[in-house]
Amino acid sequence: MKPVLEVRGLGVSFGVLRAVDDVWFDAEPNAITAVIGPNGAGKSTLFNLISGQLRPTVGRVVLDGADVTVRSPHLLQRAGMGRSFQITNLFFELSVFENLRLAAQRLESKRRMLLPVGRPGPARSRVDELIARFDLSAKAGDLAGGLSHGEQRRLEIAVAMAARPSILLLDEPTQGMSHADTLDTARLIRDLSRDVTILLIEHDIGVVMDISKHVVVMQHGRKLAEGPPAVVRADPAVQAAYFGHA
Ligand SMILES: Nc1ncnc2c1ncn2[C@@H]1O[C@H](COP(=O)(O)OP(=O)(O)OP(=O)(O)O)[C@@H](O)[C@H]1O
Ligand SMILES: [Mg+2]
Repeated sequence: MKPVLEVRGLGVSFGVLRAVDDVWFDAEPNAITAVIGPNGAGKSTLFNLISGQLRPTVGRVVLDGADVTVRSPHLLQRAGMGRSFQITNLFFELSVFENLRLAAQRLESKRRMLLPVGRPGPARSRVDELIARFDLSAKAGDLAGGLSHGEQRRLEIAVAMAARPSILLLDEPTQGMSHADTLDTARLIRDLSRDVTILLIEHDIGVVMDISKHVVVMQHGRKLAEGPPAVVRADPAVQAAYFGHA
């Protein structure tokens, strides 16, 4: 199967620190590839390199066969990349509906750009679909800032899905959630992977083992190991570096 995303020797340094150092892996279509590793391993920085927030000093990012290295986040979004951030990144003073509607704008044709946002059309339909799928109908008119933490994190995934990405990058979507919310979110992410390729940073190893097809382990900016969850988990180097601390 042709990978949706190919990460080829990516690297970036902050001063003397090689935050991401020669990282290679593929993300297969309609599957979850998890990126795990201790705090400071370089996971979020890797996402920033892939999604254009940061410019790599070396390496390439290939999306659907096209080299997209050093494209701006905005162009990458147009090329089919959606992402959520480790720190909540919503418009708190806008409603749930408005957050989603803004994120879905790319689905509207240029000639409809100046029409009222509430009008029926591709963006409006997408928003309605996401509100139902993410169980946010009772909250559609509420300000995003007034939602519970779990609801905000769920809304962020919905926002990242709004423009129908071909790949979704999720940076610790379950961070700070209760155990029950974590399990619900894991189920939701697994269901989403039927429609979209997912790259997931996740600290909950139970979740990673449960829902991912492929696991990439990072340590000190480098890829320590990769493979199916059970194989990675059994790797002595991974156990020492990661599970040993659990
Ligand atoms: N903009 C920056 N400037 C300087 N150093 C940075 C910058 N961003 C990250 N770092 C450093 O790079 C390293 C990797 O950080 P990163 O946030 O990618 O780790 P992480 O694996 O996502 O960690 P966590 O699990 O805590 O989220 C850390 O040592 C961090 O302090
Ligand atoms: Mg991080």
